[in-house]
Amino acid sequence: MNPSIRFLEGKNPNPDAGQPEPGAPGSARDLATIVPEDALVLVPVRNLVLFPGMVVPIAVGRKESIAAAQYAVKSDRPIGVVLQRQPDTESPAPDDLCSMGTVAAVMRYVTTPDGSHHLICQGQQRFRVLDYLQGFPFMVARIERLEDHAGPLDSEVEARFLRLKERAIEVLQLLPQIPQEMVNAVQAIDAPGTLADLVAGYMDLKPLEKQELLEEVDLRKRLDRLLALISHRVEVMQISREIDQRTKASVGQREREFLLREQMKAIQKELGEDGAGNAAEIEELRKLIAEAGMPEEVAKQADKELKRLTRMSDGSAEYSMARTYLDWLVEVPWKTPEPDVIDVAQARRVLDADHFGLDQVKKRILEFLAVRKLKPTGHGPILCLVGPPGVGKTSLGQSIARALGRKFVRVSLGGVHDEAEIRGHRRTYIGALPGNIIQALKKAGTRGCVMMLDEIDKLGTGIHGDPSAALLEVLDPEQNHTFRDNYLGVPYDLSQVLFIATANVLDPVPGPLRDRMEVLQLAGYTREEKLEIARKYLVKRQLDESGLQPEQLELTDGAMAAIIRDYTREAGVRSLERQIGAVCRRVAVRIAEGQIQTLRVDDGDLAGILGPAKFENEVALRAAMPGVATGLAWTPVGGDILFIEASRTAGSGRLILTGQLGDVMKESAQAALTLVKSRAPALKLDPAAFEKTDVHVHVPAGAIPKDGPSAGVAMFIALASLFMDQAVRSDVAMTGEISLRGLVLPVGGIKEKVLAAAASGIKCVMLPARNRKDLEEVPETVRQQLEFVFLDNVEQAAAAAIRP
Ligand SMILES: Nc1ncnc2c1ncn2[C@@H]1O[C@H](COP(=O)(O)OP(=O)(O)OP(=O)(O)O)[C@@H](O)[C@H]1O
Ligand SMILES: [Mg+2]
Repeated sequence: MNPSIRFLEGKNPNPDAGQPEPGAPGSARDLATIVPEDALVLVPVRNLVLFPGMVVPIAVGRKESIAAAQYAVKSDRPIGVVLQRQPDTESPAPDDLCSMGTVAAVMRYVTTPDGSHHLICQGQQRFRVLDYLQGFPFMVARIERLEDHAGPLDSEVEARFLRLKERAIEVLQLLPQIPQEMVNAVQAIDAPGTLADLVAGYMDLKPLEKQELLEEVDLRKRLDRLLALISHRVEVMQISREIDQRTKASVGQREREFLLREQMKAIQKELGEDGAGNAAEIEELRKLIAEAGMPEEVAKQADKELKRLTRMSDGSAEYSMARTYLDWLVEVPWKTPEPDVIDVAQARRVLDADHFGLDQVKKRILEFLAVRKLKPTGHGPILCLVGPPGVGKTSLGQSIARALGRKFVRVSLGGVHDEAEIRGHRRTYIGALPGNIIQALKKAGTRGCVMMLDEIDKLGTGIHGDPSAALLEVLDPEQNHTFRDNYLGVPYDLSQVLFIATANVLDPVPGPLRDRMEVLQLAGYTREEKLEIARKYLVKRQLDESGLQPEQLELTDGAMAAIIRDYTREAGVRSLERQIGAVCRRVAVRIAEGQIQTLRVDDGDLAGILGPAKFENEVALRAAMPGVATGLAWTPVGGDILFIEASRTAGSGRLILTGQLGDVMKESAQAALTLVKSRAPALKLDPAAFEKTDVHVHVPAGAIPKDGPSAGVAMFIALASLFMDQAVRSDVAMTGEISLRGLVLPVGGIKEKVLAAAASGIKCVMLPARNRKDLEEVPETVRQQLEFVFLDNVEQAAAAAIRP
């Protein structure tokens, strides 16, 4: 193209003529005469390729295009439709237009009410632009019209023509809702060029691809190109049709299910199971869920379950399972509890009011509370109260709860040997329930409660997982804010719960569990303490239980002391309380019968009420003969005294051991015998006395298994006394391990043992010298009652215990 004849659109080349107003009559007519016969007014289009034979609407917006269209209409001349190379060029210059276009007849010119202009054009013939003419208010170009191939077909072209026709009909049949006439019309076309243009015009191609087809004047090449395109098209359409049919099928399945469900509902309605009855129930549940203050994840789960519930019939087992589950979800406390208001002075008053003595333990509890007050979010240790039965572990827990103003709940771990008891069963189990932690929380109704894990030492291990592992998670502050109960199946925050554990002994508690707890030892009470407890608490409580007024029964101190001494043998006060209760009931019966108004019970009256004394002072009786020594033992229920009896018969030097002794105890008996033999000269014994003699050592209460090395000293003394034929002092009791060299080694449980000795009326206690420091734990009053002998070796023991 010659640049000198470029027509600059938008600039008026003839200022005198003025800018023609679009639609202004006259302006177009004036120019009609000027456009030469071999030239054409051009209308550039953005994204349309008009093929000969096609009828299309063209929207015209630009001033120049409108002028061109009006000129064409007025002068009854065709227009040239040409594609812009770039659809977004606003005012295309000749360079921006394709060099080939289509001559089109304007069939109609429409102006719509919103002011836009449309041409309905019919494509007639291809043309090629030769050059642009200047001086018009629209684009004008001299052109060359291109005749399509006519005349007889060569066989190459004809073959392609037939193939294209087949393909075109195939496409038409794949299209939905194509009238049969259309197929017939295509069938009737006999000019390959016409068919090619028709196919190209209607095929879904990009404008520039279509332009390529328009510009392809070689018919054979055009047919080849079209065949390739249409084959691809057919394939795509076939695949999309298959997909279509498949989705249709699945929609069909869904409709079917919907219908069936509707029918099921109708049937259920007929049977009266339509769920209308539980609509109220479900509404109620929905309300409860909304009010429960659940964390988001839990609320989601609850909603899901509720949705499931609405779809079930209320007679089904599934329904009641889902219902029970939802009941649990809404009843377990989720809300964040109020922070504790801790008043340490008030807590001290509460603890003192509920329990006598226990000063060390109370002090530690108050420290614990004070720390909690100063750092409420801190992970304080978990308190573990350890001690024999009836010393007030459980009731201390209750007091702590009372001091904090918290609810108290107890989880009994005795006999729990299945992880599921702690953590619950999965919901798939028939009759599944949450574990006892969650159950206790439901009972408490708030996460801010004191939860007592009672008898943590009685936790068993079964075949169904280790419960202590689950408990570990409960007690670990790092983990317990996302405790997972198998039944609930959602995380639960236990971090606000104040856990307190109790145990009789610590040994069976698994190490990792013990590690997480701070142990508070309660050793048991002295007789004086028991008397005090009885006077201040137990009598009052038992009077109340029996419905007596305080003035109706006077239980003298003497009577109470006698109950403690002769009717109970325990570290705690439980059976003391029971015996006092028995006295109260007896009195109550007599008062109710109207025999008396008030009664004073002294120690002399006890035999008549409680029967003969249960525990005699057997120490004096038993130890009165040679060969018997009194040992001190430690048991989980407190200290106890233990007799070692030795006797000899003619024989061959054997040692017979009876009384269910454990291996360690048997060995310590053997060591004791060997020691006695080796000390024969010092003890003034005849070595011959050991020959032809069998020695029998028995430890009574023969049915109870016993073990441990701490009876070594007592064994030695019993055997020495036997061979020396001199009795052991009846008011002496002893404990200590022995070595073959005759040294006395330290042992455990000193406090309990000393308390037991005092309770049994012993006057002198012999202890390993290295246990001297443990006496600090023994109450002052008890220490003053007793004489202590500290032993380094067995000679000292023999000197102190055996009468010369
Ligand atoms: N120091 C005390 N002052 C007042 N009452 C006490 C004291 N010690 C224990 N009691 C009372 O003794 C009874 C038994 O106590 P509790 O049930 O707490 O024992 P326990 O240590 O939990 O025993 P177990 O190991 O058998 O569970 C309770 O009624 C308790 O109030
Ligand atoms: Mg208890």
